[in-house]
Amino acid sequence: MTTSEDILANSTNEASLARTRQRSEEIDRAIDEDPTRFRMLTGDRPTGRLHLGHYFGTLRNRVLLQDRGVETWVLVADYQVITDRDGVGPIRERVIGLVADYLASGLNPEKTTIFNHSAIPALNQLMLPFLSLVTESELHRNPTVKAELDATEGRAMSGLMLTYPVHQAADILFCKANLVPVGQDQLPHLEQTRLIAQRFDKRYGRATAERPVFPRPEALLSQAPLLLGTDGTKMSKSRGNTIELAMSADETAKILRKAKTDAERVITWDPQQRPEVSNLLLLASLATGQSPQEIAESIGDKGAGTLKTVVTDALNDMLAPIRARRMELMDDEAYLLSVLAAGNERANEVADTTLAEVRQAMSMVY
Ligand code: TRP
Repeated sequence: MTTSEDILANSTNEASLARTRQRSEEIDRAIDEDPTRFRMLTGDRPTGRLHLGHYFGTLRNRVLLQDRGVETWVLVADYQVITDRDGVGPIRERVIGLVADYLASGLNPEKTTIFNHSAIPALNQLMLPFLSLVTESELHRNPTVKAELDATEGRAMSGLMLTYPVHQAADILFCKANLVPVGQDQLPHLEQTRLIAQRFDKRYGRATAERPVFPRPEALLSQAPLLLGTDGTKMSKSRGNTIELAMSADETAKILRKAKTDAERVITWDPQQRPEVSNLLLLASLATGQSPQEIAESIGDKGAGTLKTVVTDALNDMLAPIRARRMELMDDEAYLLSVLAAGNERANEVADTTLAEVRQAMSMVY
């Protein structure tokens, strides 16, 4: 028998991934036909500046979806910062910086609702009924939570760390998003979200009702393959192997000069045997739209030095307008705050409406 725990634990296995990928392609076609059928939500933890992993992994994709006419909601997940760390850090600065990253990358506040957790009381209140709909073993078996806990090297599991996928379900369900563009690591959370939506409607008699309270949100897997850091290991700010949107062209060049390559002079696209070289080719490919094979061929036996120059130029060209716009925005903090305030106002309206529906479904209206 397949239990819900298996479903969660297996949501990132090969067969399941293949299905999710195929479904993502179907959704992509459905968006072309009618983008107004979708409401998309995604978010980021304000734990630092956004880097190329974020940009190619999701941010660029969000902007494209927004521009194709999908209603877009983007969450600055400030409460999620305290899942795996003890303090909030320079949170205000980071939140404002994140909003600047968003707008500089092309999110348009006229079309997209940008908001943050801690400003939306009704979103957070959904956590309570939702917690009653999940089991402890489901929570303990969530592979992403496990991996995140392991990465903290010996930190104790906090109640919030264990239950944050439920909070994330509230992020998605409060605004009734039916589309969540995410990377692979977030798939277990999305599976958990669907279970919560299903169980809520079942438990409170809405499953067969004409209008269930919640949609069953689906993943839109990002096309970008897994990017490595410039040292060939997992991309992570703490390893200093990332290129941030906010870096200068010189800083970008400096990091890439130090990038790890290999001893082979002829540059070839070979992700299995030559992960570091291939990762650099992939970056250049993502920035220019040329295939990695083509880029490799054009470099040929000119070696790793030339490869690094090619990648640096490709990235700096792509990032130049984003960086210029970001600098301008960072000079106008009042504007950035006003974008967030407007997003929060809208998110609060929607969250209040959903919470009222939830209380109605639960017969808690007195
Ligand atoms: N957990 C996501 C991350 O770490 C951020 C996030 C918070 C999110 N809430 C979300 C993503 C809702 C998608 C939907 O990147």
